Amino acid sequence: MYKKIVVLTGAGISQESGLKTFRGSDGLWEGHRIEEVASPVGFENDPLMVWDFYNQRRRQLLCDEVDYNNAHKSLAEFEKNFCGDFLLVTQNVDDLHERSGSQNVLHMHGELLKARCLDTSRVYDWTEDLGEKTSHPDFPEKVGRLRPHIVWFGEMPLHMDKISQALKQCDLFISIGTSAQVYPAAGFVSMTSRSCHRVELNLEDTPSSMIFDETHRGLATEVVSNYFKDLLS
Ligand code: OAD
Repeated sequence: MYKKIVVLTGAGISQESGLKTFRGSDGLWEGHRIEEVASPVGFENDPLMVWDFYNQRRRQLLCDEVDYNNAHKSLAEFEKNFCGDFLLVTQNVDDLHERSGSQNVLHMHGELLKARCLDTSRVYDWTEDLGEKTSHPDFPEKVGRLRPHIVWFGEMPLHMDKISQALKQCDLFISIGTSAQVYPAAGFVSMTSRSCHRVELNLEDTPSSMIFDETHRGLATEVVSNYFKDLLS
């Protein structure tokens, strides 16, 4: 039985919850230039557009139709019943892992339901729209000084020390629903030790598929549930 497991998730695990992936046809980046909505320069140039882009994503995440699915639930159930170390690293900015009961989760690309002060970098829980008139929770006279707590292109992903450490030590690494196109996450599989067993669960092949010891193709709600059920038995 494995003792230290690291799971990496991407947008594919939340697709069946009604959230768009980034690179699929009709994906989130379709119709948007990434540098306009997901870079510090984009925000400097047009903060209203960037606030609005993430306001729409946040509203959608909080609407009644969006909730965790069977794949999120399977990971949470597995974590509850597993006796070793379990770390879930997600590139997703939604909170569906937490909603389904996952405990040890690191959001390396930030979180939609948090806002960050542009002056102090302090992070706040946030469920409302952000914009030029948003007043600051600590300094109400300050307005428009909160940005989405999202890692944009050119910025350093979060929790990298903890993640690197866990990757070096794990004996099982599982990548779920990510296209393996964005670094450093795309390189995680290569940061694991030689003895680590590496598994990819995804709808389709990715540029990293050949590096994995085992791959399963299909919808996350099916392959993730099956894989983790077998792992516990
Ligand atoms: P992508 O949109 O690049 O890739 C999603 C992957 O999930 C693809 O390989 C799909 O084949 C697969 N997929 C789609 N639906 C699925 C389903 N129902 N079940 C299983 N797999 C499915 O999303 P990410 O790899 O997460 O970063 O993107 C990585 C980063 O790129 C994001 O975190 C975001 C983006 O730019 C930032 O915004 C910083």
